[in-house]
Amino acid sequence: MDKVIIFDTTLRDGEQSAGAALTISEKLEIARQLEKLGVDVIEAGFPIASPGDLEAVRNISKEIRGSSICALSHAQPQAVDTAWEGIKDAAEPRIHVFLSSSEIHMSHQLRKNRDQVLEQARAMVARAKKHLDNVEFSPMDATRTDRKFLYQLLRAVIDAGATTVNIPDTVGYTMPKEFGSLIQGIKRNVDNIEKAVISVHCHNDLGLAVANSLAAIDSGARQIECTVNGIGERAGNASMEEIVMAIKTRHDLMKYSTDINTERIYKTSRLVSDFTGMYVQPNKAIVGANAFRHESGIHQDGIIKERTTYEIMDPESIGLSGTTLSLGKLSGRHAFRKRLESLGYALSDDEINRTFAAFKELADKKKEITDRDLEAIISEELRTISEIYHLEQVQVSCGDLTMPTASVRLTGPDGKILSDAAQGTGPVDAVYRAINRLVKVPNELIEFSVKSVTEGIDAIGEVTIRIESEGKRYAGRGAHTDIIVASARAYMNALNRLLVTKGE
Ligand code: KIV
Ligand code: ZN
Repeated sequence: MDKVIIFDTTLRDGEQSAGAALTISEKLEIARQLEKLGVDVIEAGFPIASPGDLEAVRNISKEIRGSSICALSHAQPQAVDTAWEGIKDAAEPRIHVFLSSSEIHMSHQLRKNRDQVLEQARAMVARAKKHLDNVEFSPMDATRTDRKFLYQLLRAVIDAGATTVNIPDTVGYTMPKEFGSLIQGIKRNVDNIEKAVISVHCHNDLGLAVANSLAAIDSGARQIECTVNGIGERAGNASMEEIVMAIKTRHDLMKYSTDINTERIYKTSRLVSDFTGMYVQPNKAIVGANAFRHESGIHQDGIIKERTTYEIMDPESIGLSGTTLSLGKLSGRHAFRKRLESLGYALSDDEINRTFAAFKELADKKKEITDRDLEAIISEELRTISEIYHLEQVQVSCGDLTMPTASVRLTGPDGKILSDAAQGTGPVDAVYRAINRLVKVPNELIEFSVKSVTEGIDAIGEVTIRIESEGKRYAGRGAHTDIIVASARAYMNALNRLLVTKGE
């Protein structure tokens, strides 16, 4: 069997990244994109964790037909039953039960001995099995677990009905050779292993999550748990796009395949980054802004003569068009729609109207509109969460001799127009204070970053922020050629996300 099952946990482990909270509708939109991408299994959430998580898993299960939908559950009866509640309408439901198995976790966290853990794992897999056939089990912290006990535990859960056994490197501790030998050891020593698929779930604390996952495939694992852009707890999970493109690019060495439509990778990466506010570093493999950019003269010369001199992958294989210059002020609606279609966006007439208006506004200020500008317009106009407060207008006066002063106008929840003004230490501070006087949600700004979408003085500025309220973090994003307007939009986006998720 050469197919590697891609199990995407962006909506579960990925959402566990500090400050990456998503709303229910954003989770559904990401799930739709993962289905189009060709992901085999979507881990949609952890239903016992909160009513919002349960509802998100339920909504995804009702709609998505092309991917299996999995719900995470710790090894407790109520968690297993709630996981089933979440996924029972899915076309291909799966429950994923986990329980710690290392001495460190068992003695300090669970305060249970091996026999108790063995019995609890077996019983909870059996309980899940009463609901459905497709059950996965993970011995948490497997890479720091005594090998003999790990084999014994895996044998017991497979006997209880587990159809996938997942080996998590929970703390990102293992090394490729060691991990490969662990998977081989499991194949040799767990006598019923052929009844289950071996899966791996690697964290990136030592930057080895992808290398460890690939070593595991070579040793017999046939399911990889990963996330888009590698987001996840602490240093993140194995990055899906890196694993998929490594398998595809080095097929000479790795004779495996996945069902991923790689041309949709870039768009998926953008969507996840926009919604989570987790910025993709420019030098990130596959999807970073510099991944296909050649700076040195020698490299540029080589690329012009023959692309493969310095490129091991075709940018089009991940969905980058390679076109930089596309539209301008005089371009019409038809050319605009065609360009978006070639970038993979099939928009409704209403969506075209909204994005075309934003495009015209931008074309008045900026000479050349590139594909990256178009993506920023799409993110800004179409991917905003349902707004409780809407920013109508923002005006600022500032300079080295005046106290920065901002006035803002918002539409409130009942459609009422609200306006106020405030002074601050700088223009952004003044805008945020004026908004606070109207929205009145206590919060603290903990992260603020601005980057330009393209080169040039007339570029769109993209502002990403994170705010904290009652111990939870919320991301916000805004884009505009005026970075004060972009900052105001990012703040409104974060406040709306806070209000929407609190209401869920
Ligand atoms: O990292 C981990 O161990 C996990 C488990 C729940 C599989 O995320
Ligand atoms: Zn994990």
